[in-house]
Amino acid sequence: MRAVVTGGAGFIGSHLVEELVALGWQVRVLDDLSTGSLANLEAAKRMPGVVLDIAVMDVCEAQASECIADWSPAVVFHLAAQPSVVASEKDPARDAEVNVVGTARVAEGAAGAGGSFVVYAASGGTLYGEVDEEDLPVPEDFPPRPISFYGLSKKTGIDYLELYRAKGRLRYTALALANVYGPRQDPAGEAGVVAIFLDRLAKGLAPVIYGDGEQTRDFVFVGDTVEAFIAAAERQPDGLVINVGTGERTSVNRLLALIAEVTGIRAEPDYAPPRGGELRHICLDPNRALVRLGWRARTSLAEGIRATAATILQAGAGE
Ligand SMILES: NC(=O)c1ccc[n+]([C@@H]2O[C@H](COP(=O)([O-])OP(=O)(O)OC[C@H]3O[C@@H](n4cnc5c(N)ncnc54)[C@H](O)[C@@H]3O)[C@@H](O)[C@H]2O)c1
Repeated sequence: MRAVVTGGAGFIGSHLVEELVALGWQVRVLDDLSTGSLANLEAAKRMPGVVLDIAVMDVCEAQASECIADWSPAVVFHLAAQPSVVASEKDPARDAEVNVVGTARVAEGAAGAGGSFVVYAASGGTLYGEVDEEDLPVPEDFPPRPISFYGLSKKTGIDYLELYRAKGRLRYTALALANVYGPRQDPAGEAGVVAIFLDRLAKGLAPVIYGDGEQTRDFVFVGDTVEAFIAAAERQPDGLVINVGTGERTSVNRLLALIAEVTGIRAEPDYAPPRGGELRHICLDPNRALVRLGWRARTSLAEGIRATAATILQAGAGE
């Protein structure tokens, strides 16, 4: 089976590429390396019998569609994106360029390949907007009302895929991901609070909490997330948004306490004003994923933190 993975040199994308290659897929990565890196693909490249082609390219360019269609993929996993809420608030136009124009390029490429199935990395953390606590965990039929430009551009990506589908040009599943965390997440990014906290602790710095820390998130481990991508590629439920989360809420204060329990490193956080575009609470109802993909998150937050800490604390200690 042949696949294209856009954003395959990134955090989630590189784990997905590793799993696909291990399953015998022939993979082309399309990535401009803006937040990803070739180092993330080293493990995949070393796997026996690997077929891994890497195209360093901006997904917004017209050639991106050709680059996808030329590979004749059965499945296109679309993960390339401007991934930061904060960056989208600073530069909504660039965010739209990458996340909207880029998705249109990918859709055109998938359609040009004769109708490859697209698995899109949507954002469950921003799609639904501010949700009353009694409506959590939020199901997929909740009206989407993003409050950040990133949330809007990622939602528009789904709308593009839906219109391509309505025109009979492709089939797709949009996985609405919760807060994904795990090894290889870049602590220099503005998202990824688990990686950011662990990195600060490794360097002996106080973790920074924006707001009072009582905001809650749904943290899902990257290994579990990759399993959802593979299940979507295998089962191909067409024209659906499917939440990929645990259904459990954890406050940022509780997360820091759990990190301290798991790692034995305790530090008083610095509290800073809340950041624009960020939600108070979000948590995703994972039932559709169970029914349509046979998927549910299997890694507990403590286990996931342990696996993540093992890599980040080691790297931090080496600096
Ligand atoms: N990490 C999360 O919690 C989370 C949650 C919801 C959705 N997502 C989505 O999952 C996907 C992957 O996110 P991630 O956390 O792995 O982030 P990441 O930054 O590690 O990965 C994004 C990848 O896309 C590449 N990229 C960015 N702009 C590009 C462009 N113009 N052309 C080609 N490649 C480009 C980057 O170099 C990087 O390799 C994104 O689409 C993101 O919106 C992530």
